[in-house]
Amino acid sequence: MFTLAHLSDPHLPMPPARAEQLLNKRATGYYNWWRHRVHLHVPEALTGIVADIKAQKPDHIALTGDLVNVALPQEFRRAADWLETFDRPDRLTVVPGNHDAYVSVPWAEGIGLWGAYIASDGQSASSTAVFPTLRRRGPIALIGLSTAVPKLPFLATGDLGAAQIARAERLLTEAARDDLCRIVLIHHPPLLDQSRWKHLTDAAAFQTMIRRVGCEAILHGHNHRSEIARIAGPDGPVPVLGVASASAAAGSKYGRARYHLIHVERDRDGWRLEVELRALAADSRGCAPDGRLVFHSARAAAMVS
Ligand SMILES: [Fe+2]
Ligand SMILES: [Fe+2]
Repeated sequence: MFTLAHLSDPHLPMPPARAEQLLNKRATGYYNWWRHRVHLHVPEALTGIVADIKAQKPDHIALTGDLVNVALPQEFRRAADWLETFDRPDRLTVVPGNHDAYVSVPWAEGIGLWGAYIASDGQSASSTAVFPTLRRRGPIALIGLSTAVPKLPFLATGDLGAAQIARAERLLTEAARDDLCRIVLIHHPPLLDQSRWKHLTDAAAFQTMIRRVGCEAILHGHNHRSEIARIAGPDGPVPVLGVASASAAAGSKYGRARYHLIHVERDRDGWRLEVELRALAADSRGCAPDGRLVFHSARAAAMVS
């Protein structure tokens, strides 16, 4: 049995910005943070989620993006410090979200500060050409994708690009050959029915690739909701699992902060994935079970409770 914890969208608290740092798309995001989002994402919720993850002692942790808000250099540094307090880079895998590319920031001053948490096995943490990433842990192949591309104001869409999709197809094919349980990490849900202001622009091309080579599960964030969808794989539907924001304030429109614990084990004809939803208590002290889903291989999910 291998246990993977999945959390997303911590949206760490915003540090103060200097006026000259806001002469771009950041201006609207910075205003929006202090006007609205500061009430939606609270540090005590994230502290409670992280404490519960640590208490559950998963074998690995996946974090699917939106660590920061408007891509200020000081936000990236703070997030790097936070990651260090969370867990070791070999035990925690990060892919970026749209807020981590809110504006264009040089790699070394931005996402690159988290390079040790992103890099593929055997790859340098300072490498800029990293995606898709591949990390093997026990029976699992974690394939990390980046959809984080700077966009015009008011757009929260993401792109994979044809080259990244093609490389992901090769990694998934090789991992299947090695009989690994393939779990894809991606910030934007790779679905076709999403808002055009925040969707993955090449979701159709991604789905076409998955239809050819398949995978055992796709984990995403971005919508700040725990949700499930399915896309077609070569052997049947592939589960697409979204997780709520790990810093959602109790009573906010996002509901309670959550994370998922995914227990992976072999079964006779493939893999059994049991997903345990865990929600933060109203007083932010500890999490409680909030539902359970079971999947067999790439076939349809059976809702257990
Ligand atoms: Fe987010
Ligand atoms: Fe997002």
